[in-house]
Amino acid sequence: MTTTATRPGGPRPRAAIAAKTLRTDRWWLAPLLTVTLLTLWVAYATVRAFMQKWYFVEAYHYLTPFYSPCWSTGCVPEAALFGWRFLPDWPIIPYAALTLPFLLLFRLTCYYYRRAYYRSYWASPPACAVPDGHKTYSGETRFPLIFQNAHRYFFYAAVFISLVNTWDAIEAFKSPQGFGIGLGTVILWVNVVLLWAYTASCHSCRHIIGGQLRHFSKHPVRYKAWQFVSKLNGRHMLLAWTTLGTLMLTDAYVMAVAAGWISDLRFFH
Ligand code: FES
Repeated sequence: MTTTATRPGGPRPRAAIAAKTLRTDRWWLAPLLTVTLLTLWVAYATVRAFMQKWYFVEAYHYLTPFYSPCWSTGCVPEAALFGWRFLPDWPIIPYAALTLPFLLLFRLTCYYYRRAYYRSYWASPPACAVPDGHKTYSGETRFPLIFQNAHRYFFYAAVFISLVNTWDAIEAFKSPQGFGIGLGTVILWVNVVLLWAYTASCHSCRHIIGGQLRHFSKHPVRYKAWQFVSKLNGRHMLLAWTTLGTLMLTDAYVMAVAAGWISDLRFFH
């Protein structure tokens, strides 16, 4: 039997039901998958970021995105963007320590990932029509979650890092003969194109491009661009997961070639 809790003057009350939820489908599957996949990905990325080897294939200039830009004194000179190497070569400092924190914060404060980890790690709430795992709820109005609002600034950092990744993909056309294309080149390019798609599909990007305009008719170029990023924005979740996959695949491929476990499949030179 169900009754309704009343709170005079308060927000609309929830139905007071004895059962934790009336849902009978496998609502727990999505949060469980999210926890499993995100945890595995973070574990892999952490190990790789601190490994400090097998990050660069000198012959074809393949640099894994986890080490880009490679600005540590431990980087091989050929892998260093602009030849800069100034970060101390200590085991606790990843070679890309200058940009990895911004990438992490960009994803951590992403609107989609927020939804994903609030639901899965914090059970807040784990699914629609399933009660919140916490007694109180203050949203993102207080410390520390109020810092989620900084997402728009991490977006600018992500644009810069995507430019660096694009340069890495251009460099991946190198070969001992001068110019060449291998499977690594293709993988790096697929990764960077999808990274751009993910970055452009960001809600902050959509607002930067189309927000604060009174009349779209007076800004036809911004309107077109806004229409384009809005389409991508509809696939933001898909792009969030796909790019985790391509980042991992790109890194694993570069590692495998750099370690000598496999040879790069060459299509040209
Ligand atoms: S909202 Fe997801 S990256 Fe900006």
